[in-house]
Amino acid sequence: MEKTIFITGGAGFIGSHLCEMYISEGYNVVCIDNLVSGNLNNLSEIVKHPAFTFVQGDIRDRDLMMQLFETHKPSHVNHHAAQKSVAYSVENPSYDLDVNLVGLMTILDCVKAHPIENFIYVSSGGALSKKIEGTEKSSEADTPQLISPYALTKFTGEKYIEMYAAQYGYEFTVVRYANIYGPRQVPDGECGVIPIFLNNILADKPSVLMTYPDMPNGCTRDYVYVADVVEINKLASEKPVNTIVNVGTGEEIAILDIYKEILAVFEKNVAIFIEAPRAGDVRRSVLDAGRAADLLGWESKVGLHEGLTKLKKHLEIKK
Ligand SMILES: NC(=O)c1ccc[n+]([C@@H]2O[C@H](COP(=O)([O-])OP(=O)(O)OC[C@H]3O[C@@H](n4cnc5c(N)ncnc54)[C@H](O)[C@@H]3O)[C@@H](O)[C@H]2O)c1
Repeated sequence: MEKTIFITGGAGFIGSHLCEMYISEGYNVVCIDNLVSGNLNNLSEIVKHPAFTFVQGDIRDRDLMMQLFETHKPSHVNHHAAQKSVAYSVENPSYDLDVNLVGLMTILDCVKAHPIENFIYVSSGGALSKKIEGTEKSSEADTPQLISPYALTKFTGEKYIEMYAAQYGYEFTVVRYANIYGPRQVPDGECGVIPIFLNNILADKPSVLMTYPDMPNGCTRDYVYVADVVEINKLASEKPVNTIVNVGTGEEIAILDIYKEILAVFEKNVAIFIEAPRAGDVRRSVLDAGRAADLLGWESKVGLHEGLTKLKKHLEIKK
């Protein structure tokens, strides 16, 4: 049977990799993106494919979204468009609320009018982490810290997806990402220390480590290579699990160690300076992805060293 997927934010870093995967898996793909941080160049491999449609538009544009649902009658929605920055959500919580929740409600209104089979909603395992102690890892059942507007809107979005599933008749998977990195991620200063560090390192410019005084090696994070994220989206599109799954490696890495690993892989030596953390930054984050393994047979396959080496090769090919 023919499958049509709507992918919001499909011109972005992660979304563009997903568009490529869905095309190669035989879906008709309708990508909606307002290009606020996405870029059409990310879609150059598939933009002319007959099964691919790009629509430049805003997920909050109700008339446009209703018309697109009416025209294309998607069986699947994969919602990646978002205000993605913790720091920006602290500065501008109204915008965060508007894109992340009003935008989601617009899509859910379309789903109510034009029922779908499968909804994938992207949330944040890092921002929704509980305060972890010792060797603990965050699990989906923990109570999140909710210390930023971004965490609040992503968490509330999860609740809307769960609440409307039965009423609107779709199955769903909430994928809670750790920190994702890989080709096409941009150093826009909003999230993703890897492209920010890498950009500086390649230009021989020092970087800044924003951390708490008692964490001299930096806050800790769990870093997942984008190919692993593509794989879990593929699995969840075939077999929705109707719950939240963490998408992480289970490896907790201090940000200074990430910096050192980038220097090693790219064979560079550039200084780094310490500054105070940004408001809303969680101190430690590492995800237990056991539920994704149990329900979807998914586990992260690409370690940090291998992922950075792949990224290096990609950048060399692009030169
Ligand atoms: N990158 C990570 O480490 C990470 C971690 C956790 C969660 N996430 C989530 O994954 C998703 C994708 O993030 P990304 O890193 O690929 O970021 P990205 O900025 O590259 O992608 C987001 C895309 O959404 C589009 N967009 C934003 N607002 C829109 C709107 N109102 N209407 C239509 N399109 C809009 C942007 O133009 C962009 O193409 C986001 O939901 C983000 O919160 C990312």
